[in-house]
Amino acid sequence: MNYGNMKLAEEKVFKDPVHRYVHVRDRVIWDLIGTREFQRLRRIRQLGTTYLVFHGAEHSRFNHSLGVYEIVRRIIDDVFHGRPEWDNSERLVVLCAALLHDLGHGPFSHAFENVFGTDHEEYTRDTLLGDTEVNEVLRRVSPDFPQKVAQVIAKTYPNQQVISLISSQIDADRMDYLQRDAYYTGVSYGHFDMERILRVMRPREGRVVIKASGMHAVEDYIMSRYQMYLQIYFHPVSRSAEVVLKNILKRVKKLSEEDYWFKYEPVHFKPFFRGRVTLQEYLALDESILLTYFQFWMDEQDDILSDLCQRFVNRKLFHYTDLNPKEQPEKYERLLALFQQVGVDPTYYLIHDCTTDLPYDLYQPGVSTKLPIFLELPNGEVRELSQQSIIVDAIAGRMKIDHKVYYPAEILKNDSIDQKLRKEIIDFLG
Ligand code: NI
Repeated sequence: MNYGNMKLAEEKVFKDPVHRYVHVRDRVIWDLIGTREFQRLRRIRQLGTTYLVFHGAEHSRFNHSLGVYEIVRRIIDDVFHGRPEWDNSERLVVLCAALLHDLGHGPFSHAFENVFGTDHEEYTRDTLLGDTEVNEVLRRVSPDFPQKVAQVIAKTYPNQQVISLISSQIDADRMDYLQRDAYYTGVSYGHFDMERILRVMRPREGRVVIKASGMHAVEDYIMSRYQMYLQIYFHPVSRSAEVVLKNILKRVKKLSEEDYWFKYEPVHFKPFFRGRVTLQEYLALDESILLTYFQFWMDEQDDILSDLCQRFVNRKLFHYTDLNPKEQPEKYERLLALFQQVGVDPTYYLIHDCTTDLPYDLYQPGVSTKLPIFLELPNGEVRELSQQSIIVDAIAGRMKIDHKVYYPAEILKNDSIDQKLRKEIIDFLG
């Protein structure tokens, strides 16, 4: 029997707090979950530094990946199966893509990518196609199967229906992380009626549509996404933790370039300093390793590195104030100079950070990266969501931009620095 069609003798179930159960019948899926590259996702948190603000947010990319798989499995097996517009020979490729879509994420992805210029999407592809256990399992299905899974994730697969289940403005990825992040942070927004949305999804020629009767459930989903971004994903204090984390990595890189003598050599980071990283070296990293280094580095001779690590480990984060250096360049320049004058290095202690979010992206071919949401009216006509929904139209295309400057609060309280300069700093930041 073909490996791709093999079923387990008995269905396996994973208990899941968001979807209650995750069901696995396919041999391929079961074997993929057991690979070392997939198990590694247990050691990478879904929300990076957010656990320093919402202490429940310890859930991993492993949980989330299983959840995305389960949502896609339900759409295919419970809603699409048997419909003439759906080709069920696509089932396995889309299930594998759902399960493996985040495989290349590294520890504290955003901060890490920012400092070392790595790209998790590239590593996802390399893990699928390279010398890995995941690749070995996928190749058992057929020699070109790893490439097909990679194409779905890269959005270059020929069947748009398949892509839109994993990557559109209402895909299984978003539907899982919104509910999961809401559950683990404990907030009350972020919930929406996913059962209803799944029931009204329909495969159509070259796309997936939502029956107009499900529009209100979709509006609720868009609003919950909007609120989750403002309240959780862009929380100013978890951004502060990310700023401190980025600075630790920046400092370590700098010290290493200067041949600083480390008490605890950053062995795992060396390939990243050199800019030549093998897949195995990349996959060897996880958040427990980074946190171990941070704890060791609290004892380093270098004051900046030691201070930043203590801040991260003991959660003594930076304070912040609203400031856009582009709008107020003189003020920002003056602050930089003041920090220099009182002996606080602004490269590590006065940091501008900016977030942007588009609550709903009005679809522009060639510009938008995510496929839009299509509603199917009772007469069969198909419309893009914002043309039909007043609520979505009101927030569509509106970019939310937030500029902040982060700094250590101690600088405002330090009595040993020049009092005139200190007062000027307090006037700017306090
Ligand atoms: Ni994801």
